Amino acid sequence: MSLQSPTVIRLVLLGAPASGKGTQGQTLSTAYGIPKISTGDMLRAARDAGTELGKLADGIMSAGQLVPDDLVIRLVDVRLSEPDAQRGFILDGFPRTVPQAEALDRLLLTRGASLNAAIDIRTPRELLIERATLRRTDVRTGQIYHLKYNPPPASAELVHRDDDREETVLKRLDAYDTMTAALVPYYEGRNLLRHVDGVGSPSEVGQRIRRALEELTGISAAQTVPASVSRGGANGS
Ligand code: AP5
Repeated sequence: MSLQSPTVIRLVLLGAPASGKGTQGQTLSTAYGIPKISTGDMLRAARDAGTELGKLADGIMSAGQLVPDDLVIRLVDVRLSEPDAQRGFILDGFPRTVPQAEALDRLLLTRGASLNAAIDIRTPRELLIERATLRRTDVRTGQIYHLKYNPPPASAELVHRDDDREETVLKRLDAYDTMTAALVPYYEGRNLLRHVDGVGSPSEVGQRIRRALEELTGISAAQTVPASVSRGGANGS
C-alpha cells in the first residue's frame, strides 16, 4: 500500500491538553493498524535520553509552553519517512500552530500524499484539569491511566508528568487557546474537520471518532488490515 492509496488514513487529532488524544490515538492505532505519532512522546523520549533537543525541550515543556516549530517539524519529517508511516498515521499533538500545519502539508506533498481527516476532541476546561492532574503513565508499557476514571493495576510502574501539575496545566490550556485553536478554521477551510464531544467514557468517545473518520474517509476499521504497529515514539503520554 503506498502513501497515495485512497484507503490510507492520515489523521490529525486535535484537542486541548488531556482531551484524550493519546488515549484515543492508541486505540485507533490498534484498530486501523497504523502508528500513532506523538510529538509530546518524542520530545519526552529525547529529554529522557539526554539529547541536545531533549535538554532544550525540557525547560520549555515544564513551563507549559510550545517547543519551537522548526524543531518539531524536523522530528515529524524524520518520523514520516519510517516504513510504518507509509500505511497511514495518526498524529497526536502535531501540528499545534498554523506554521506547523503548513509545514505538514508541504512534507506530505513532497511524498505525494495529503491528510484526509482532522478530528477535534472537545472537552470542558474543568474536566481537562481533572484529567491531566490525575493522569499517570506506566513507564514500561506507555499505557495511559487515570487515578479516578481508569485506575492502573498494582503492577504498573507509574510516572506523573512534570507538566501535569495544575499551575502548568493552566498554562498549557492557555497556549492551546492562543496558538492551537487556530487550526480549527485551518482544517475547516479544507473540509477535513469533524468535532467530536470528548465527554463520556473512552469507548463512547472512540465510537464517535470512528463514525467521524468513516464520514470523512469512507474507511472503517473493519476494512483495514491489522499490521504490527511500531511503538517507537508512538505510545504513551
Ligand atoms: P503532549 O504530550 O502532546 O501533551 P498535550 O497535547 O497537552 O496532550 P496530553 O498528552 O496532555 O493529553 P491527551 O489529549 O493525549 O490526553 P490523554 O489521552 O493522555 O505535549 C506536551 C508538551 O510537549 C507541550 O506542552 C509542548 O511543550 C510540547 N510539544 C508537544 N508537541 C508539540 C508541538 N507540536 N509543537 C510545540 N511543542 C510541542 O488523557 C488524559 C487523561 O484523561 C488520562 O489520564 C486518561 O486516562 C484520561 N482520559 C482520557 N479520555 C478519557 C475519558 N473519555 N474519560 C475519562 N478519562 C479519560
